[in-house]
Amino acid sequence: MLNTIVQFSFFLSAVLFIIGLKQMASPKKAQKGIVWAGVGMLIATLASFLVPNLQNLSLILIALVSGSALAYVSAKKVAMTDMPQMIALYNGMGGGAAAAIAAVELINPIAEHSLIFTTIALSGAMIGSVAFSGSIIAFAKLQGWQKKQVSLPAQNSLNAILLIATIVLAYKLVQIPDATIILTIFFVCALVLGIMLTLPIGGADMPVVISLYNALTGLAVGLEGFVLQNPAMMIAGIVVGASGTLLTQLMAKAMNRSLFNVLFSNFGATKSSDNNQDGKEMKAIEASDAAVNMAYANQVIIVPGYGMAAAAAQHKIWELTQLLQQEGVTVKFAIHPVAGRMPGHMNVLLAEAGVPYELIYDLEQINAEFSNTDVSLIIGANDTVNPAAENDKDSPIYGMPILKAQNSQNVIVIKRGKGTGFSGVQNELFVADNTKMLFGDGQKAVADLINAIKSL
Ligand code: TAP
Repeated sequence: MLNTIVQFSFFLSAVLFIIGLKQMASPKKAQKGIVWAGVGMLIATLASFLVPNLQNLSLILIALVSGSALAYVSAKKVAMTDMPQMIALYNGMGGGAAAAIAAVELINPIAEHSLIFTTIALSGAMIGSVAFSGSIIAFAKLQGWQKKQVSLPAQNSLNAILLIATIVLAYKLVQIPDATIILTIFFVCALVLGIMLTLPIGGADMPVVISLYNALTGLAVGLEGFVLQNPAMMIAGIVVGASGTLLTQLMAKAMNRSLFNVLFSNFGATKSSDNNQDGKEMKAIEASDAAVNMAYANQVIIVPGYGMAAAAAQHKIWELTQLLQQEGVTVKFAIHPVAGRMPGHMNVLLAEAGVPYELIYDLEQINAEFSNTDVSLIIGANDTVNPAAENDKDSPIYGMPILKAQNSQNVIVIKRGKGTGFSGVQNELFVADNTKMLFGDGQKAVADLINAIKSL
């Protein structure tokens, strides 16, 4: 009877995970989706206590309480802009947990050590270990703790040797499952492989890498779910693995890069191409002049980027939008798929500020409209509006689709100074004849614009 309740609870949790994920596909329902999935996780956790012959109850409780407290405090404290590294860390923990389950099961003398059991446990252990150590390096990079781009000579060959060594050790373990020394070396190799794979990858590619490790963690958890015969783990792992894979593909596509290129080309290792600006200078504009441009426009397109998030300017941007609408201006938002530092970053911030979804357009929907637009207001976006992606074959961002703000009649750019975007590439749009720079922190600059429009 108890076993039936446990199995039913695990199944129910899996269904809740899927419902939650489905809701997360829409910004409107995403918050509810998190709650559904959270309830699923709670049910799965509680059901685990009903598993017959549960041992080490006090250790489990200590781990649960300290883990939950740590997660609660850090999630409350983390800034929106630091969310990607937070995800990297949580994700890494998932991979590490899967690898730890495998380790325990592999050294457990009473566990069934059939060929299939050992192969699946070892596959999960390897994938989970790579995801764990790789995610920790990704976290350190995004947190600014590991700024140097470490790339050894023949890095890719070294990685290939490590990969082969890990697989050979796994093969040995399938033949001699209780060889603890081989098992230890196997884990060390897999962990070092994760580090070596991630160290040479540039910061700008980290969100793609995190998404990939997320997919790997899902796969590892799914495999270990099979080892433990736990359907909730199996289904959750498969769902995370599949959605992580799709997200990785979408992000790589939006950056016009192949996954192979992201992983093995050391993008951003050099601040390459620094395409010179042909001696052209940026032209500054005062808030009062920018206000006149915008208030008398027919249509304004607002292009937000990472700088809007850094400045937390989304509320001011919505205030500005409403003011312009009162002046009879049509205002639209153009969102690039990789604007900011994580998928949907801009959509989440704008939704939080109350911007209606009808005003928000994605790249394919809005690009043709820039040529009929009087003013494009770019706030903290850089790479995603950089024409070098279209016309500089040597640029590291060449081929990435961009928002074609350069086609509008006037471009006003809000940024603090002459800083480059995440790719480190100069932006010729900022020195174009139709572009003016409204220098300053995003929030303050928009507040100045609002005041200037009000006093017109
Ligand atoms: P970025 O190209 O990163 O440019 C952000 C700009 O914001 C900078 O040039 C910076 O210039 C400005 N800025 C920073 N803080 C500011 C503040 N407080 N107020 C005003 N401006 C500020 O932004 P983007 O156009 O959103 O592009 C995103 C980049 O991240 C792309 O390269 C993309 O490929 C990469 N990436 C994103 C994702 C996802 S999923 N979003 C995934 C992988 C990679 P100043 O320093 O001069 O102010």
